[in-house]
Amino acid sequence: MDNSIYEPISYTAGKILQKKARDTSIPYVQELADTLKINWKSTKIRDWLRKLIWGKVRPGLYLELRYNAISQALQLYPESAVLEIAAGYSTRGLVECLHREAYIETDLDKLIFHKEKIIDLMQEGKRSSCHYFKPLNICNPQSVERVGNFIQSLGLTKPIVVIHEGLFMYLNPAEQELARDNLKIFLAKYSPDGAWITTDFSERDLNLTILQQFMMKKLSKEVERKLYYFPNDDAVTKFLKAANFNFTKLPNLEAKNDKSEVRSVAEEFRAYQITLS
Ligand SMILES: C[S@@+](CC[C@H](N)C(=O)[O-])C[C@H]1O[C@@H](n2cnc3c(N)ncnc32)[C@H](O)[C@@H]1O
Repeated sequence: MDNSIYEPISYTAGKILQKKARDTSIPYVQELADTLKINWKSTKIRDWLRKLIWGKVRPGLYLELRYNAISQALQLYPESAVLEIAAGYSTRGLVECLHREAYIETDLDKLIFHKEKIIDLMQEGKRSSCHYFKPLNICNPQSVERVGNFIQSLGLTKPIVVIHEGLFMYLNPAEQELARDNLKIFLAKYSPDGAWITTDFSERDLNLTILQQFMMKKLSKEVERKLYYFPNDDAVTKFLKAANFNFTKLPNLEAKNDKSEVRSVAEEFRAYQITLS
């Protein structure tokens, strides 16, 4: 399978883990970053530079709200197996596998094989027997089919939930359609009563300062791609309806938060619950 056009995106997985380790209370992120030898501890100079560039924008807060929105949505499907696409170095699987039929982490082959080794190292070989790691390129139908066959072999009793965060913005519009259509085929064939849950459809392009635009250009160069956010909810509706999906934009978890900054940022990370019509 040729993943070469997607592989530069894998760089972001380590960057996200570094930010989570530095700035969030998401479980296991510091342990995983340490095992990967990612330097996440901040210095005064770095803190100052970050403040200069990002001002009020707080990547740690963003990532935590995004993580929490999906974890909350998963509670709608207790015990169901989860198939995580583009899992990167997310640690959600370590938490969720403990009370689910299965947790299947997937990503491009190089990243996921490395992650499997690192998680085994971190857990000293004591991985839960229902925690799996499989290669999956969501834009490749054969790859999706292979994972589907693996899932079928598990003999699950509950509908499966497919999740991802921080993926669709790295795909161009044609690739986004391909990924959507592959997800539809997957659900129809392997779990018609299952669901697709993601926050990717509520993330929007931010209004950036010149310094921030410079950092985003650097990111774009690193991943060798332009980033594509959905411009508004209507564009998301059109995109999902074109494939005959039903969907609900789940409530903003932080709607009652005392801090207006948190309330408004959380609005950008509302999870979509998407099902077959
Ligand atoms: C921004 S990271 C997000 C990682 C993780 N979901 C998180 O939030 O920490 C994007 C991930 O997408 C993966 N990726 C890129 N193209 C992909 C594809 N076509 N199929 C599956 N995963 C892909 C990358 O390897 C990378 O791990």
